[in-house]
Amino acid sequence: MAMAMALSCSIATSFWLLSFTLSISLLSFTSAATSTGTISAQHSLTGNQTITSGDGTFVLGFFTPPGSGGNYYIGIWYGKISVLTPVWVANRVTPVTDPTTSELKINDDGNLALLNQFKSIIWSTNVTTISSSNSTVAVILDNGNLQLRDGSNSSLVFWQSFDHPTDTWLPGAKLGFNKITKRSQHLTSWKNKVDPSPGIFTFEMDPTGNLQYLISWNLSRIYWASGMWNGQEFSSVPEATSNYMYQMQVVNDTDEMYITYTVDIANNPTYRQLLDYDTGQIQVPVWMENSKSWMPIWARPTSKCSVYGVCGPFGSCNDFTSPFCYCVKGFRIKSQADWDLGDRSQGCERVASLQCSGQNNSEEDGFFKMTNVRLPDNSLSLTMFGSSHDCQQACLSNCSCNAYSFNSTGCFVWHGELLNLQEEDNQPDAGTLYLRLAASEFQTSESNKKRMVAYISVGVIVPSVVVCLFMLGGLVWKRERRRAIQNSKVVHNSLVSFMYDELRIATNNFSEKLGEGGFGSVFKGSLPGSIDIAVKKLEGLYQGEKQFRAEVSTLGAIQHVNLIRLIGFCSQGTKKLLVYELMPSGSLADQLFRSNSNVLDWKIRYRIAIGIARGLAYLHEQCRDNILHCDIKPENILLDDAFVPKVADFGLAKLIGRDFSKVLTTIRGSRGYLAPEWIGGTPITTKVDVYSYGMMLFEIISGKRNLVCATESCFEFFPSVATSKLINGDVEVLLDHRLEGEADMGELAIACKLAGWCIQDDESSRPTMSQVVQALEGNLDINVPPIPKFLQGLSNSWTDNINSHGNFSSYQNSNNCTSSSSL
Ligand SMILES: *[C@@H]1O[C@H](CO)[C@@H](O)[C@H](O)[C@H]1NC(C)=O
Ligand SMILES: *[C@@H]1O[C@H](CO)[C@@H](O)[C@H](O)[C@H]1NC(C)=O
Ligand SMILES: *[C@@H]1O[C@H](CO)[C@@H](O)[C@H](O)[C@H]1NC(C)=O
Ligand SMILES: *[C@@H]1O[C@H](CO)[C@@H](O)[C@H](O)[C@H]1NC(C)=O
Ligand SMILES: *[C@@H]1O[C@H](CO)[C@@H](O)[C@H](O)[C@H]1NC(C)=O
Ligand SMILES: *[C@@H]1O[C@H](CO)[C@@H](O)[C@H](O)[C@H]1NC(C)=O
Ligand SMILES: *[C@@H]1O[C@H](CO)[C@@H](O)[C@H](O)[C@H]1NC(C)=O
Ligand SMILES: *[C@@H]1O[C@H](CO)[C@@H](O)[C@H](O)[C@H]1NC(C)=O
Ligand SMILES: *[C@@H]1O[C@H](CO)[C@@H](O)[C@H](O)[C@H]1NC(C)=O
Repeated sequence: MAMAMALSCSIATSFWLLSFTLSISLLSFTSAATSTGTISAQHSLTGNQTITSGDGTFVLGFFTPPGSGGNYYIGIWYGKISVLTPVWVANRVTPVTDPTTSELKINDDGNLALLNQFKSIIWSTNVTTISSSNSTVAVILDNGNLQLRDGSNSSLVFWQSFDHPTDTWLPGAKLGFNKITKRSQHLTSWKNKVDPSPGIFTFEMDPTGNLQYLISWNLSRIYWASGMWNGQEFSSVPEATSNYMYQMQVVNDTDEMYITYTVDIANNPTYRQLLDYDTGQIQVPVWMENSKSWMPIWARPTSKCSVYGVCGPFGSCNDFTSPFCYCVKGFRIKSQADWDLGDRSQGCERVASLQCSGQNNSEEDGFFKMTNVRLPDNSLSLTMFGSSHDCQQACLSNCSCNAYSFNSTGCFVWHGELLNLQEEDNQPDAGTLYLRLAASEFQTSESNKKRMVAYISVGVIVPSVVVCLFMLGGLVWKRERRRAIQNSKVVHNSLVSFMYDELRIATNNFSEKLGEGGFGSVFKGSLPGSIDIAVKKLEGLYQGEKQFRAEVSTLGAIQHVNLIRLIGFCSQGTKKLLVYELMPSGSLADQLFRSNSNVLDWKIRYRIAIGIARGLAYLHEQCRDNILHCDIKPENILLDDAFVPKVADFGLAKLIGRDFSKVLTTIRGSRGYLAPEWIGGTPITTKVDVYSYGMMLFEIISGKRNLVCATESCFEFFPSVATSKLINGDVEVLLDHRLEGEADMGELAIACKLAGWCIQDDESSRPTMSQVVQALEGNLDINVPPIPKFLQGLSNSWTDNINSHGNFSSYQNSNNCTSSSSL
């Protein structure tokens, strides 16, 4: 039987496009009020009036962020999206309170100006070079750019909003600076959820003239850099090379230096990049029509805790807790209202003020030991103190000293606010910080005990308390063990319902972490009767108790030799945990990529590929609910002692409820396995798993990660090499060289071709999971796959791209330094 996958290839793109356009036309316009086309000397804008771009994509008018207490701003938002989403704000710092008496008009000098109820100008385009002052008009273009231009000659543009972005970078807008005027275009985050005034994070082109872009905190601390532009890509965003949704251009000429990008607007009418006020990340949110919400599908930096000072003074960050910010011991949130709006710049304040020697004769301040903490970088180094005790005394002697640290390099003290703390296990350059606290914080009163427990639960490890818990744990272990069996209520499908304490003891207080993913961390444990288990602590859960139990019970019913088996669960208040069988051989990633492990031979690899495909086919086709996995990667394939693969982490998306977006951001961090549909905003089907499976199959064949990176940049994308070699039938060179050619060449050819089919751009060209099984078993003949479009883009030069797309002609003549790549 021959598989005719090539046939469907050309149809799919248009289908994709069609379904997306359809979903948009069903939406109603939010701007029901009178909508004039332009603002001119004759037509000003007031109250609920708006102007709309030609095709209705963008709308300009007054808006008020829900919860802002009636502050109105002039802004541009999406006309076809039912949730108000401003992409530009004019009067960021000067809101008006009454739009009906305020007016956006063309002023006498030809500028566009916003007048409040007292007719005073509170915002203006403020250009001095307007040559024809009584005939300027303001229009909004289909790309979201507001232009002030000559009424009779539209190429005479005096001012445009694209030159003054707020927190959003729209396709076509520039980010960079003018070398002559020194003016720059950069993004500044909103202050918080309801206040568009400039916040603490900035996204800009490197002002020192390097071809890269940076995100910084308060314009002083750079916490993320894209890496240098090499003519093709930015070196630290290599995964963007497989994201062919946008074209980057970097321009450096005598007048200006900037980065801009274009997307295929027909497919991505709402594509934008946003500097988020809450996390400090640059994000690409995608509109999900089904849930009527924005979902970030890409974000940098991936770790929120690498955003400088993200938790504010005396706040501490942990990427694996939810929420990721909290106050350190002895401190409490300074302004809960701001914190709730996503503005943590005020951070935390002391609960009990320091006694500070000399002012008070009561007990001296003490120090709280924090281990494994990323130390703030503004310490003073006191090299003369040679012992920890002297270092402590040095800190105590100065009232402004809040902490000290002593290591082999010497004594370090911190005066003033502590910023950028992060407490996580296994951090590379973690140290021990001694935090100065009032003596009362160390008294073991009842209330303090409670607080201590609270701190343990948010992840601050208090060594002495942990020791106590261990001892306690040992004493009650026997009793608990008996109780565990008695108390464990067996629910449907023989799932065991555990108590939290049982799992805490079974995992030795969650001491041995096996890994962490989008849904939470996994710990090793052992049940009475030496049953080894893996316990997953779920994070960011929004499900109610009943729903949770229903979902868990559904999960428990899914049983297949190639799917990891759920043994039980725990649901105690906010604590939700899942208990799985433990897989002794670790993950496929461990086996494939760890250099010191035994190399998996071809037979085993092929069996693993078939097993995974069977497991996924079962999830997709045989389960009642057609479960999508959505995060297929070698880390999520576990192996038992006979190397039988077990797909892990399935069915959790539904369990997590509405916080799926957070999970996806994390998933996007596992670069290279995500199908293009995630970016396009089309409905997600089982074919996203097929795509990821294909990417993983390439890794099984080659024994290395698809993207081969050195420290600074990435130089090879294996699927690209593989699909072009396949055309010449040259498969042997693709095999993991460690196998030295030891493989069944027939199977190798099947696996290579199949992987190529799985990663086709068009989901309808990809096989189903059961077809994959058939093909691997040799029951389906498959042809050589065409090279997916995005991989073609990688090998073509910029000029080829211009010629094939046609719509970038305006960049063709601009400059020799202009270059681009498919991103
Ligand atoms: C716009 O405002 C006018 C009066 O200011 C009001 O009558 C009308 O209902 C408003 N339209 C909408 C769609 O809110
Ligand atoms: C317009 O620009 C001038 C200087 O360029 C500045 O002094 C003035 O405050 C600006 N006015 C407004 C309304 O922004
Ligand atoms: C501008 O206004 C002046 C005086 O009000 C008038 O003489 C002139 O014709 C106007 N120009 C245009 C282009 O409307
Ligand atoms: C419109 O303005 C452009 C740019 O200043 C100029 O080159 C062109 O000649 C003008 N066209 C007309 C019809 O005035
Ligand atoms: C940001 O920097 C300015 C000076 O550059 C400083 O005055 C201000 O205090 C800083 N903000 C914070 C929150 O540290
Ligand atoms: C940008 O162009 C200028 C000359 O216009 C050149 O001196 C400079 O080195 C260029 N910068 C980069 C990063 O290429
Ligand atoms: C001195 O200590 C007492 C009790 O600990 C406290 O109530 C008082 O506020 C302290 N005084 C100063 C100046 O810190
Ligand atoms: C405490 O430290 C600060 C910062 O180093 C310094 O300015 C101040 O003089 C010190 N105070 C005393 C009493 O030593
Ligand atoms: C000691 O701590 C300081 C302050 O954070 C740090 O810069 C230094 O690298 C540490 N030295 C060692 C040997 O860990």
